[in-house]
Amino acid sequence: MVAGTIAKWSSDMSVGVLVLDEEHRFLIEEMNSLHAIKKMKSQDTLENCLGRLICFAIKHFFHEESYMAKMRYSRMPAHKVAHDDFIVKMQSFLRRGADEDVTVLSVEIVEYLDEWCAQHILVEDRRYALEADSRSGQDRMWGGGRSR
Ligand SMILES: [Fe+2]
Ligand SMILES: [Fe+2]
Repeated sequence: MVAGTIAKWSSDMSVGVLVLDEEHRFLIEEMNSLHAIKKMKSQDTLENCLGRLICFAIKHFFHEESYMAKMRYSRMPAHKVAHDDFIVKMQSFLRRGADEDVTVLSVEIVEYLDEWCAQHILVEDRRYALEADSRSGQDRMWGGGRSR
């Protein structure tokens, strides 16, 4: 983690699909906004940031799952469960934000996002990219090519 942030997108995180890379970039920016909440102490800001993150994550997961379905990704069922669990967890944070201390809750949220970014974006999302790479002769879909 870069000081004061969850992460910073870099080409090491590329999944080889431009639209998904751009979404990961934006997702990480949204996560970093939540990191800043720790200083803001505002319930409204927490709810707004969480709401935006949930909406964008749902859209990104839909795109990613469509891509994985098209490439017939071998680990798609487990990957989809991880996406669904993330949304459920974010929604529970949103509910808890209504009556819990924002500064305490935001620490828990940032720890969860930090771990999720490291385990999901950096490991699980890269797995479908590696599987796509390993299949010789299969054309990349959705405007593939490494982002730089
Ligand atoms: Fe994913
Ligand atoms: Fe992703």
